[in-house]
Amino acid sequence: MRIEHDVSLRQKNTFGIEAKAESLVLFEQNTDAEIESLFQQVQHIPTLILGGGSNVVFTSATIPLVLQHSGQKIEVAKRDDNTVLVTADAGWDMDCLVQHCISNGWYGLENLSAIPGTVGASVVQNVGAYGVEAKDVVHSVDVVDLQCREVLHMTNAECQFGYRDSLFKHFPNRFFVLRVAFLLSTHFHPCLDYKALQTRFERRENSSISATEMRSEICNLRWSKLPRPEENGSAGSFFKNPVISKADFVALGSRFANIPGHEVDTMVKVPAAWLIEYCGWKGRSMGRAAVWPKQPLVIYNTGNCSGKEVRALAESIQQDVFNTFGIALQTEAMFV
Ligand code: EPU
Repeated sequence: MRIEHDVSLRQKNTFGIEAKAESLVLFEQNTDAEIESLFQQVQHIPTLILGGGSNVVFTSATIPLVLQHSGQKIEVAKRDDNTVLVTADAGWDMDCLVQHCISNGWYGLENLSAIPGTVGASVVQNVGAYGVEAKDVVHSVDVVDLQCREVLHMTNAECQFGYRDSLFKHFPNRFFVLRVAFLLSTHFHPCLDYKALQTRFERRENSSISATEMRSEICNLRWSKLPRPEENGSAGSFFKNPVISKADFVALGSRFANIPGHEVDTMVKVPAAWLIEYCGWKGRSMGRAAVWPKQPLVIYNTGNCSGKEVRALAESIQQDVFNTFGIALQTEAMFV
């Protein structure tokens, strides 16, 4: 474990917003000794557990204590002829893990290619894109409960995954993810649930599509719509897609004829991007924060933007969407 003081966090959040950690605790190895020192260092719940910083907006200039996993260990256990259990330290970069798994012939993570952030954060957030969510491939998660001061092994069901949600998300900064076990396949089966992927591979037999090809298609799709963090700071989707009742959706449909939505169980998920675009926010800016012209679900940093400017823009969007549709948009990103 390493402890650093007065550390700039600008390079540790994809928005590129400046903030300072008074102390940064870098947890390196999932050993009993290191967990013991962690308990000594973190006597109370830390102010912030940081993953890849792809989902946070710093609004405070200083944060007293930041805890981050930087471990890079990986263990692979063959389960049978068709499946492997890949257990990766929480500090792994998610996209590096996707790439590593594809190169080794362990499949299931391809559609999560190019998602910024760490393996630890991917389970807290239940990241998802192009038809796959973390919950579809997570077998179990080991976490430190910093409040009860114990290590827990949680099964997929115990993590209570939902749309961009998990048990961990309901107790911010209490559960520190140590490692995540993914149950992957040794045979590649392309997941083509996302419409643009179906179109792209329309005339192809599934068996002729390779995982590498799928990965590159996913990366192309992602970067055709979203800003690359190294070019324009952002937190990916800033808002969640609201889920409303069928009755509310029908009522909205009578006022807004083209409103899109797709059924999820007994509810309807409405694309927040459409609502935001309808309210005229696509491509607009406020201060140094702006709405991405190709995907209005994304707020980005036009240069030296502060967290407060991001919050002001987000609140204006929420207000307009609420006044127009009566829908309260929830943020996917977290203000710290
Ligand atoms: N749309 C518009 N205007 C636009 C763009 C989109 O109206 O400029 C509407 C359209 O109706 C479109 C719909 O939004 O059909 C859906 O757009 P898209 O397929 O881009 O997906 P999304 O619902 O906006 C979600 C995730 C993304 C993920 C994509 C692809 C959330 C909050 N976001 O976006 O996740 O990459 O699906 O699976 O669920 C992230 O979480 O950071 C993220 C990027």
